This record gives sequence, C-alpha cells and structure tokens, in this order.
Amino acid sequence: MAAMASLHLLATLLLILGYGRSLIAHIIDEASHQTTHSSNNMIIPNHTYRPSFHFLPSKNWMNGPMRYKGMYHLFYQHNPKAAVWDTAIEWGHSISKDLVNWFPLQPALTPNQPYDIKGCWSGSITILPNQKPFILYTGIDHNNHQTQNLAIPKNLSDPLLREWVKLPNNPLMKPTLGNKINVTSFRDPTTAWLGHDGFWRVIVGSQENEKGIAILYKSKDFLHWIKAKHPLNSAKKSGMWECPDFYPVSTKGKIGIETSVDGPQVRHVLKVSLYDTSHDYYLIGTYDTTKDVFVPDEKGFDKDELYLVQRYDYGKFYASKTFYDGAKKRRVLWGWINESSVQQDDEKKAWSGIQAIPRTVWLDESGKQLIQWPIAEIEKLRGHHVKLHSKVLKPGTLLQVSGVTAAQADVEISFQVSKLENAQELNPSWKLDPQILCSQKAKGGFGLLVLASKGMQEYTSVFFMIFKTNKKYVVVMCSDQSRSSLNHKNDLTTYGAFVNNVDPAHEELSLRILIDQSVVESFGGKGKACITSRVYPTLAINDKAHLHAFNNGTLHVKITRLSAWSMKKAKVN
Ligand SMILES: *[C@@H]1O[C@H](CO)[C@@H](O)[C@H](O)[C@H]1NC(C)=O
Ligand SMILES: *[C@@H]1O[C@H](CO)[C@@H](O)[C@H](O)[C@H]1NC(C)=O
Ligand SMILES: *[C@@H]1O[C@H](CO)[C@@H](O)[C@H](O)[C@H]1NC(C)=O
Ligand SMILES: *[C@@H]1O[C@H](CO)[C@@H](O)[C@H](O)[C@H]1NC(C)=O
Ligand SMILES: *[C@@H]1O[C@H](CO)[C@@H](O)[C@H](O)[C@H]1NC(C)=O
Repeated sequence: MAAMASLHLLATLLLILGYGRSLIAHIIDEASHQTTHSSNNMIIPNHTYRPSFHFLPSKNWMNGPMRYKGMYHLFYQHNPKAAVWDTAIEWGHSISKDLVNWFPLQPALTPNQPYDIKGCWSGSITILPNQKPFILYTGIDHNNHQTQNLAIPKNLSDPLLREWVKLPNNPLMKPTLGNKINVTSFRDPTTAWLGHDGFWRVIVGSQENEKGIAILYKSKDFLHWIKAKHPLNSAKKSGMWECPDFYPVSTKGKIGIETSVDGPQVRHVLKVSLYDTSHDYYLIGTYDTTKDVFVPDEKGFDKDELYLVQRYDYGKFYASKTFYDGAKKRRVLWGWINESSVQQDDEKKAWSGIQAIPRTVWLDESGKQLIQWPIAEIEKLRGHHVKLHSKVLKPGTLLQVSGVTAAQADVEISFQVSKLENAQELNPSWKLDPQILCSQKAKGGFGLLVLASKGMQEYTSVFFMIFKTNKKYVVVMCSDQSRSSLNHKNDLTTYGAFVNNVDPAHEELSLRILIDQSVVESFGGKGKACITSRVYPTLAINDKAHLHAFNNGTLHVKITRLSAWSMKKAKVN
C-alpha cells in the first residue's frame, strides 16, 4: 500500500509552434493507427465503468498531467505491465489539439539508466527560450534512492517530440552527506521559473522527519543546480510533500500568467500533495524574491488544522499540476483521479486511474481562494440538450430530468433559496470540517441525484446545505456516495466542501456536474467548491441510470435554470 501510494508523480508538458497544420494532422493520423500499448498480459479489459470523455490509457495504471504550446502534450505516469503501481513506471505520452481528443505516442521515458532503473517518476517540463522543452524528472535507482534528472528532445524538428534523450550529466540533483536530503523522500521537480537575477529555480518535494519541505534549487544553465540555503516553504508537521506546484496568478480577472512572471497585480500559489492524506492543498501568498521564500496569507500546511487549509477538490483528486497555456492565456489545472474500487477489481477491469477534466484556474475576486472551471473545449462534446426554467421544488420533491444519457452528461442547475430563516443552526460546538458536516450533520439539502437506479436502490447525491449562524449563512456542498453502489467493497465516503464567498440570501447557488460512467465531477458556486467522486453502481449503468433534481430539506427552493446535455464520447488513445 505504501509503495503504491508513493508514486504519484506526474509530469507535464508541452510544445511546438509553427508547424503546418496539415503536417501535424497527418502525423496524428498516422500515430492514431499505431498500437503502442503492450499486450503482455491476457486480461481482457472490462469497460463497464470506463469513462467516455476523460483521459485514460487504453489499459493499465496511470496518473499524471501535462502542458502545452501549439499542440497539447500529456506525459503521464504509466505502468505498461498492469493496472496497479509497481517499479516499471514510465512516462506515457499522448498529444491533442483540443485537450479533449487524444492520440497515443511511444513512451517518452522508460527506466533504462542506473539512476532510474526502478522507475521514471514524476517531474515537469519547462520551455526554455527558443522553444526548447526540457524535462526534469525523478529517477529511482537500485537502492530506491531518488535523484532529479534532465531529458531533452532528440530531434527538435520532430513536431511531436516523440523521442527524448537523457543527459550524460545526470543525475543533476541528488542527496549527499553534505546536503542532508532524505534519499527516499526527494522527488517531483516543478516547472522552473526564471528570476530577475538570471537564475532558474525549481522546487523539489521532500520530508525531514515530520517536516514537509519544498527544497529550492537554482541554476544559471539548467545543468548545474545548487541547493539554496533556505527552502521555499516548509511545515513542521505535515509529512512528505509530493508534486509541489508553484505559480503566479493575476489579481485582475481570469487571465493566466506564465510561470516566471512576477510584479504588481501578481500573487503566488503553492500547492502540495500530502502523501499522508492523499489530498492536494494550496495556499495563496506572496513570493518574497529578496529572500526567495513564499509567505502564505494564512497559516501553512501543518497537520493539526489541515481541514482549514483549502483544497482544489474535496473528493478524489491528487498529484495535480498546472501549466500555462499561452495560446489561450489561461492556467490549466490537471489532477489525477484514483479509483475507489479495491485493487482486485482494478486488476479485473484491467485499467486504473484517470485524469480529471482539465480546469481553468484563476484567483477569485475576494483574493482568498481559487476558482476552477472545466475548460471550454469540453463543451463541444455536448449533444442533445434538455432545459427547464423556473420550477419550484417543494420540500420532499424529486424531479426526474429525462431526455439525456444520464450516465454520460453535463448538467448545470441554479437555485434560488428563500425562507432562509428555516435553515439549520450551525452548532458552535461542531468541528467546522465540511466532510464531517456532510456525513454527520446534514439534514436534507437540495441538489441533483445522479447515477440513480430506477427503484432508487442506488444513487449519488450532490447537494447544498445552508446553515445559519447568528451573523451569516454558511453554504456547504456535499457529494454523498453512501448509496452509490450496492457493491460495498468500494470506498463510499461522503465528501464535503464549503462554498465560500457566496451569499445565498442575495444570489443564486449554481451547481455543474460532469457525469461520465464512474466519475462525478461537481463544481459548486461557479467553481468555488469542487468535489470529484468515483462511483460504481451495479444497477444504474448506461441507459439504466437516471438523473433527478431534489429538495430534501426544509427550505423554499426554486430552480431558476436547468440545462442538461448528453455527452458524446471523446477519442482517447
Ligand atoms: C464487467 O464488470 C461488470 C461490473 O462489475 C460486471 O457486471 C460484468 O459482468 C463484467 N463483464 C465481464 C465480461 O466480465
Ligand atoms: C527530425 O525530424 C524531422 C521532422 O520529422 C525529420 O524530417 C528529420 O529526418 C529528423 N531528423 C533525424 C536526425 O531524425
Ligand atoms: C525519509 O523518508 C522516509 C520515507 O521514504 C521516511 O519514512 C523517513 O522517516 C524519512 N527520514 C527522515 C530522517 O526524515
Ligand atoms: C486510491 O484509492 C484506493 C481505493 O479507494 C485506496 O485504497 C488508495 O489508498 C488510494 N491511493 C491514493 C494514492 O490515493
Ligand atoms: C433525505 O433526508 C433524509 C433525512 O435526513 C435522509 O434519510 C435521506 O437519505 C435523504 N434523501 C436523499 C435523497 O438525500
């Protein structure tokens, strides 16, 4: 178990402008006819729960994200041998023109050097001036020691960057007696950023006893790296920091900014994936370039009050990474979504792990949180459309939404709530952990029931709860999987998230859900709260799945707008 969780690496990537469209189209076409996946085991994949518009390899284990330029490239952690994690992890590689349809290429990196013989783990791509993409990644050697290594494209004229070469100077960063770095906790280098002093910087995740650390390295030439005296950030009690991510966000609207940009109207985000909890947490703060440290606005990642630290997603979402998409001037976030089934079931279905729908990410007007929204491109998969306006949902009502493929759909709904004085009191003695509020204190609520069987033996409910305190209303979004499957071997946790910076007395509450067979990705308050669930109904499968809106509480709720679309299948590998 520990070994399996220790992987998550991820990576990322990018590339190439200026090639003729027809050449690229031709190569993609050619590539799509090659089968690049090994067929060295005889398990026939079971596609019952296989998502149709999320990225996943044709089979076996995966995790990890991407990045771009001219064409989108995704490098992902892939086990070519089985749907579980082991020591053969390589960098799978797929390309796309739209972040929706993907074509597989040969692996970019495979374990074949003394320093990475037990795995090419996660890393990042940095595009250097003159459009040169460099991969920094973690290699695992015979002794399970971790080092950071560089790979560059073999042929920069190949628009698909199919082949990569590892530098003879590797490893470029390694634990030594002098630097006291933990040899088995030193991984996942970030995309590099360039300081005003002309030095590149990257951080690498690490741990020193219970202390989680973002070790900072600097380099003038990308080959010789020197560990800085101070880490960029650390937290005394947080355990190992995996897949750190550090990037600027604009204080002026949704526009994304390139990783090296700094200045007025820029804040910074530090994200870490905490190995001990399997969740991604982020802090917003200031990058003090004189001291070369990150100073968060709120307290750090210490374990004692982790439930107060913001997460991208309050369900299954880990080892995420962002990249700057210059063509669309946006920052895109990609996370890995683990299965919620037991390993034996993953092995039976022969695939495991998918990528979340890429999300555009920007700073909320309040400056206190990030907003995430599925990239616009996913909307081109929307097919048949069903709409509804102005419908009152009395307490105790269930309203079926027919006419869309409920197991593969995109649904947007907005609610207007009145008689808020009837809201449930928030007891001051409760721990303000939204997951606890959803699983133990939630009475009723209103929202959507997805992947519901006809007789309601199975359903996943995604809903809002409004609590009142003496001063204000507190909105919580819940994703309750407790009745999602009659197969109780699955993880049936109920997830919860606060929807902050909304006022239900004066504004509508909106919910968008992307449903794809076994994935339920929910966005509350226009992207202020996100929860991703994996569910495996046994009855509510394909055309036996139903969709409903519901009000199970005491509040007066009106649906002001509901739009649901059947989603087409994307072409994925
Ligand atoms: C595929 O998995 C589903 C769900 O577990 C199961 O009902 C079905 O029988 C499986 N199909 C095959 C061919 O094994
Ligand atoms: C590099 O890639 C270009 C474009 O695909 C190709 O024409 C050229 O032959 C390649 N060069 C080598 C040395 O492989
Ligand atoms: C080094 O990392 C390992 C995990 O790989 C951890 O168990 C151990 O406590 C760490 N040692 C120190 C001294 O931090
Ligand atoms: C993935 O999900 C499985 C099943 O819920 C769980 O046992 C495992 O710990 C998870 N791994 C990570 C890294 O989140
Ligand atoms: C409605 O609320 C009741 C009481 O809190 C709960 O037992 C039931 O499961 C809820 N139904 C749905 C569909 O959430």
